[in-house]
Amino acid sequence: MEGHPVSYSRTTITELMIPSYANFGGKIHGGTLLSLMDKVAYACASKHAGAYCVTVAVGGVNFLQPVDVGELVSMLASVNYVGRTSVVVGIKVIAENVQSGVVKHTNTSYFTLVAKSEAGELVEVPPLILETAEDVRRFHSASLRQRLRKDLFAAMAAHRADFVLDARVRGDLAGERCVIRVEGAE
Ligand SMILES: CC(C)(COP(=O)(O)OP(=O)(O)OC[C@H]1O[C@@H](n2cnc3c(N)ncnc32)[C@H](O)[C@@H]1OP(=O)(O)O)[C@@H](O)C(=O)NCCC(=O)NCCS
Repeated sequence: MEGHPVSYSRTTITELMIPSYANFGGKIHGGTLLSLMDKVAYACASKHAGAYCVTVAVGGVNFLQPVDVGELVSMLASVNYVGRTSVVVGIKVIAENVQSGVVKHTNTSYFTLVAKSEAGELVEVPPLILETAEDVRRFHSASLRQRLRKDLFAAMAAHRADFVLDARVRGDLAGERCVIRVEGAE
C-alpha cells in the first residue's frame, strides 16, 4: 500500500467565536472547542486513510488558557502516527485577537480515529511518509504515548481487580482531602 506524506492530509479549520459559544463566565465552552477538534480530526484522518474514520480516543486535552468571544480560533491538524487501522491526529489550537493580532496557543491534543469500510469493518490505512525531523519526532512521541497508554490501562485494570479497602489504601489516601466512612471495612 502506497503511503502519504504528512502534508497530504494537513488540515486547518478556522472559526470566529460568537457569543452563543460562551459559557456563563463569558469564555468559550470547552465542548465547543472539542467539537471543532473532532471535526478537523475527522477531516484530516479520513483524508489520509481515504476512508470513513470514527473517533476512538481523545488524549492530552488541557485548556491551558481561556478563549474569548470575538477571537478567531484555528485548529491545525496533521497526522502524527498511523497503526494498522488507526490514525493519530495532533491538533494545535490557536486563538487570535482579531483587533490586536495577538495569537495565543491554547492547547495541543491528540485524537485517535480508526478507518472503517462502508460495511463498518476496520480497514488498513496507508503508511505515513515522514519527510522532516519534526515528522519523525511526532511519530516517535505518539508511539511512546501508545505504549504508556497500554501500561496505564493494564495498571488500572489490575487496580480494579485487586482493590481491597485495607490499611495500605488508607495510608495512600492519608494526605488526600477525603474522609473514609465505610462501615465494616478494615
Ligand atoms: C475502536 C474499535 C473499532 C476497537 O475495536 P476492537 O475490537 O477493540 O479492535 P482492535 O483491538 O483491533 O483495535 C482497532 C484499532 O483501534 C485502536 N484502539 C482501540 N482502542 C483504542 C484506544 N482506547 N485508544 C487508542 N487506540 C485504540 C487499536 O490500537 C487498533 O489500532 P491498530 O489497528 O492501528 O493497531 C471499537 O471499539 C469501535 O468501533 N468503537 C466505536 C467508535 C465510534 O463509533 N466512534 C464514534 C463516536 S461514538
